[in-house]
This record gives sequence, structure tokens and C-alpha cells, in this order.
Amino acid sequence: MIEVKNIKKSFDGKVVIEDVSTVMKAGQCNLIIGTSGSGKTVLQKCIVGLFEPDSGEVLYSGNNFTAMKGEEKTEIRKEIGMLFQGSALFDSLNVEDNIMFPLNMFTHNTHKQKLDRVNEVLNRVNLPGVNKKFPAELSGGMKKRVALARAIVLNPKYLFCDEPNSGLDPQTSLVIDKLIKEITIEFNMTTVVNTHDMNSVMEIGDYILYMYQGRKEWEGSKKDIIFSKNQLLNEFIFASEFLQDAKDMRMLEETGKIPNHRNMDLMLDKDTAPLAPPDQGE
Ligand SMILES: Nc1ncnc2c1ncn2[C@@H]1O[C@H](COP(=O)(O)OP(=O)(O)O)[C@@H](O)[C@H]1O
Ligand SMILES: [Mg+2]
Repeated sequence: MIEVKNIKKSFDGKVVIEDVSTVMKAGQCNLIIGTSGSGKTVLQKCIVGLFEPDSGEVLYSGNNFTAMKGEEKTEIRKEIGMLFQGSALFDSLNVEDNIMFPLNMFTHNTHKQKLDRVNEVLNRVNLPGVNKKFPAELSGGMKKRVALARAIVLNPKYLFCDEPNSGLDPQTSLVIDKLIKEITIEFNMTTVVNTHDMNSVMEIGDYILYMYQGRKEWEGSKKDIIFSKNQLLNEFIFASEFLQDAKDMRMLEETGKIPNHRNMDLMLDKDTAPLAPPDQGE
């Protein structure tokens, strides 16, 4: 669990994060959403300590990370995995060496142990055997998977992903999203994902924090979004007419004004939706 308490951050007198507090739980994907420039990256960097907040605190599993110094802070950092925007792989290192990098930095394992671990995480992201390839030889989706393998190689308790789908097509985005979700559940990680991708919100968003101009405008579950009356949130999420219609219909169903429509269930509420296609049965 990560507790964020009253985080504020300015650059040159301009407030960029305005008093944000939230709690991010383990075993779920906690999403930070909002338009470009709303403060998602700065907030995430304040949480992991890449930026020092002007005020406020961040607690990792109840321990005050902000108040820690040196060695203590390093111990928490070892438990944090990061998937950076644009993957940030080292171009001059092959896949194996990229993934081994954190192991070299933070462990005293033998080469054999490290190699075994590299192969383990490569298998986990469904990329066995690409050890000797260089980043330039990989597709965008493969690079993200290698970056994800590197992010989880130290078995982190906390995983941060900044725009994991940037530059990917919708299908590959879904593969990455699903992988992040599976890994989160499998290892009971507290995962924090920055995104402005609505597909991701509906696919993996267990808990969602909506940022607007540096402040927390709204937070809640994916289901809460459907019924939220927050105008700014609605304008952001249901920007397209199609999605707005879908939301309206879902709300009418819920209030009994129209019969339940399976199509909408499949789109907006997959977890509980029947698997049969909407044109069958009934
Ligand atoms: N290092 C920095 N120095 C000054 N301003 C910054 C810096 N990083 C981000 N900002 C500003 O903070 C605001 C929020 O940026 P950011 O968190 O990157 O937005 P998002 O990730 O939601 O697109 C923007 O106005 C941006 O220009
Ligand atoms: Mg950003």
C-alpha cells in the first residue's frame, strides 16, 4: 500500500501539483489519469522520490519514505520497479544486459543466478530467447515487454508505469495492459499506471485518480466512473459521442428505464458480463 498525503510541487513559482492525497492498495492497478500536462508524471515522480515534493509525505507500507535518508531510502527504492515512458532501454546493451542491469546494481548474486532470473522474467513477459537482441531490433511492443521485465526483475512490491501504451497500436496496448494487470495480481504488487488511454481505464483500472490542472479532481472505481456526475471527469472520459451514448444507456439500464443491454455490459463492465456474444441466446 502507498499513502500519498498532501503532496505539493511547484516549479519556479508555478504550482504543478496542488495538495494531492490518496491511498493506493496492493494487488490492484491504481491509475492516474488526465489530459497531457495535468500533472501525472510529476505526481508519479514525487511518489517515487525522483522529485522532492515541496510539502507532504509518501508512505510505503506505512513507512514514511519522505522522511527517510540515505540507506533507508535505498532499501525502499529496491522495492520499486519503474517502467518509463518510451521504455528507456540502454541502446548499447542487449536485452539480457538491459534486464541484468538492476541485478548488477543491487545484488551480489552469481552470474548464473542473475542469468536464471533474467530468463525467468523474459518468460514471464512471453519473450523467451531474445537475450542477445538489441533494442533497435525489437518492435515497440517487444521493447515495452523487455522494459517491463527489467522493471520486475528485482521482484518489486511497487510497480510504476508512465504511459505504458504510448506509441503502441490498440491491440499491442491491450497485451501490455493485460500483462501489467496479471503481474500485479500474481505478485500482489501495488501498481501505479499513468495513462490518458480510455481503453486502459476500462481494461485494468481498479482504482482511478483523475488529475485536472495539478489537482485531484475525482477518484473512485471503474464502476463509479459510469455513474459519476463530475462534469470535468465526464468530459475527459466520455469525450466521444459514442462513449457518452454508452454511458447514458448504462445509466438508463441501471435505473430500470430500459432493459439490460448485453453489449454495454461487455464494453463497460466486463468483469461481470456474460461471455456469449450479444446476438445469441435470450
Ligand atoms: N522539470 C520541470 N520543470 C518545470 N516544469 C515542469 C517540469 N516537469 C513538468 N513540468 C510542468 O508540470 C506540468 C505537469 O506536467 P506533467 O506531470 O509532465 O504532465 P502529464 O504527465 O500529465 O502530461 C506541466 O505544466 C509541465 O510543463
Ligand atoms: Mg506524463
